Amino acid sequence: MNKTVDIPLVRYLAMTGHGSRRACDELISNGRVSVNDTVATHGIRVIPGKDIICIDNEPVEYPPVFIYLLLNKPKGYLVSDSDPENRPLTKDLLPDFKLRLFPAGRLDFQTEGAIIYTNDGLFTNKIAHPRNNIPKTYLAKVRNIPDSSTLNRWITGIRDNNQILKAMDVQIEKTTRQNAWLRVTLTGGVNRQVRRMGQATGHPVVKLIRLSIGDLNLGNLQPGESRELTRREIKSLMNYQPDHKRTSKPGKRNSEVRKISKNISHRRRRTRNDNHKKTKNRPGQ
Ligand code: URA
Repeated sequence: MNKTVDIPLVRYLAMTGHGSRRACDELISNGRVSVNDTVATHGIRVIPGKDIICIDNEPVEYPPVFIYLLLNKPKGYLVSDSDPENRPLTKDLLPDFKLRLFPAGRLDFQTEGAIIYTNDGLFTNKIAHPRNNIPKTYLAKVRNIPDSSTLNRWITGIRDNNQILKAMDVQIEKTTRQNAWLRVTLTGGVNRQVRRMGQATGHPVVKLIRLSIGDLNLGNLQPGESRELTRREIKSLMNYQPDHKRTSKPGKRNSEVRKISKNISHRRRRTRNDNHKKTKNRPGQ
């Protein structure tokens, strides 16, 4: 006989993709959740797959359907649910899955590039929580060309607004007469970190693109386009372990800051976006 295990309703709602515990608590407080046709109260427990749980009279799908999307956020879009100033929202660029998707982390209004949307709270936590040290790599176009001692400070730490901001890695990718393109890797989650580091060292950032999150690369995805992550990509991020062998140590890295005259325009090549398909359950589980 199968053993039936009950779990707190709020946990069930969170794991089926209805937001943070707090958001799920609110759904219950607002009387929007029912269990077996009775309006749910706080603290009750449910048996997944047996009890019938509804939100706004719509049954919650179990096992949950998880969606994982990579969006190339264009600049001039806000990562938010709404905006009093009516600016364009990244969520409106996504295909309609009839499920509430949440951004796993943030990019600021003028920043472009890779951002993941999902309804999988565990996955979001893995990607966005600084404790998990998932590296995020950016291309930053900065005013003027920083010298090596300035780039050193990016690694050893820059004090800004009572915070110490540090990059895991920074390299000069290419230079023009007035600007440099820096490849910057961060593991922390400090708000507007690259822009603040640029500003604080006298090299304001004029363009910022996030190229990758862990092993997940933007590739040929065009601004405004999204695609589903493959099962392999989801699994790889879920199990991500920073590969120390791939990244040299901070002290060593500083002396290695070097110019690479790679052309960054490969990002602009166009390919067709795949059709979006739903991912049932969390891969690799
Ligand atoms: N650093 C920034 O300055 N902005 C972002 O959006 C992300 C990192």
